[in-house]
Amino acid sequence: MARNKIALIGAGNIGGTLAHLIGLKELGDVVLFDVFGGVAAGKALDIMQSSPVDSFDSAMSGGSDYAAIEGADVIIVTAGFPRMPGMSRDDLLTKNAGVMGQVAEGIKKYAPNAFVICITNPLDVMVWALQQKSGLPANKVVGMAGVLDSARFRLFLAQEFNVSVEDVTAFVLGGHGDTMVPLTRYSTVAGIPIPDLIKMGWTTQEKIDAIVNRTANGGGEIVKLLEKGSAFYAPAASAVAMAEAYLKDKKRVLPCAVMLNGEYGMKDFYVGVPVVIGAGGVEKIVEVEFQPEEKAAFEKSCDAVKKLVEDFKKLGV
Ligand code: APR
Repeated sequence: MARNKIALIGAGNIGGTLAHLIGLKELGDVVLFDVFGGVAAGKALDIMQSSPVDSFDSAMSGGSDYAAIEGADVIIVTAGFPRMPGMSRDDLLTKNAGVMGQVAEGIKKYAPNAFVICITNPLDVMVWALQQKSGLPANKVVGMAGVLDSARFRLFLAQEFNVSVEDVTAFVLGGHGDTMVPLTRYSTVAGIPIPDLIKMGWTTQEKIDAIVNRTANGGGEIVKLLEKGSAFYAPAASAVAMAEAYLKDKKRVLPCAVMLNGEYGMKDFYVGVPVVIGAGGVEKIVEVEFQPEEKAAFEKSCDAVKKLVEDFKKLGV
């Protein structure tokens, strides 16, 4: 059987890290596309030259011709501009709006059957634009945000409890970033929900509130430290987990930005909710019952996303 083909649109910090991880995991052959074709080609060659050392077989190439992505099974989009210190994700809207149109055209023409994962920010509106402009079915176009937000949440919880990250699960919903909604009663250590851990004296509500706040601002914390650009290792690892779930039909339950069609009382825009990812793309949207304060937080997050979609429409790109 031929290897899977994975196309990466954007060969910057996240794009390069994606290619390296895909190689190390032998998920398939990689085509890197970037407006700077030399960067894409250079990174492809460099990573391929590590393959004899790390014992993986993956053909990698790079350039600036969309024809090279033809027939890709998976496409991961990071094309666009990252945040700089002092910028919110929403500040990127105008800069990245035009980029999504070009990327959507390329995908529509050369790989309309691909499973597409968008990472470009502001995430929830960019993935919506990509789906609308490419015309691909909504179950095949998803946004990567929740896996990253929940990874950050899991790490901080594991550090707080001094337990393995493996044994911490986290449940987050909503838009990417400040308005993210962590459901602590569904977040656990080995199945024990956080509210029970507070009762058991493992931590306090104040500490959990601080962790939730740090998670929601997790991207900004890194932007401030890096001073030029934004996080790329954890975002890349998160998107690779989503790609792997699709390619291996793992049916993993992952928080992803997906188009809602009445679920959670919402319709016609993308926002983060738990979904099942398998060979059919988004195979199921998991709908949980909210408590009143959770419902209010989720609606607030959805309102923020909807406002950004309206702002995008006004740009007329
Ligand atoms: N088509 C293809 N590639 C493009 C285009 C375009 N129209 N415009 C820009 N690019 C490329 C840039 O040349 C650059 O190589 O996208 C790449 C982006 O890489 P970085 O600047 O290193 O940004 P990165 O950290 O990878 O983040 C990319 O993901 O998490 C989000 O907020 C982040 O929106 C940003 C995106």
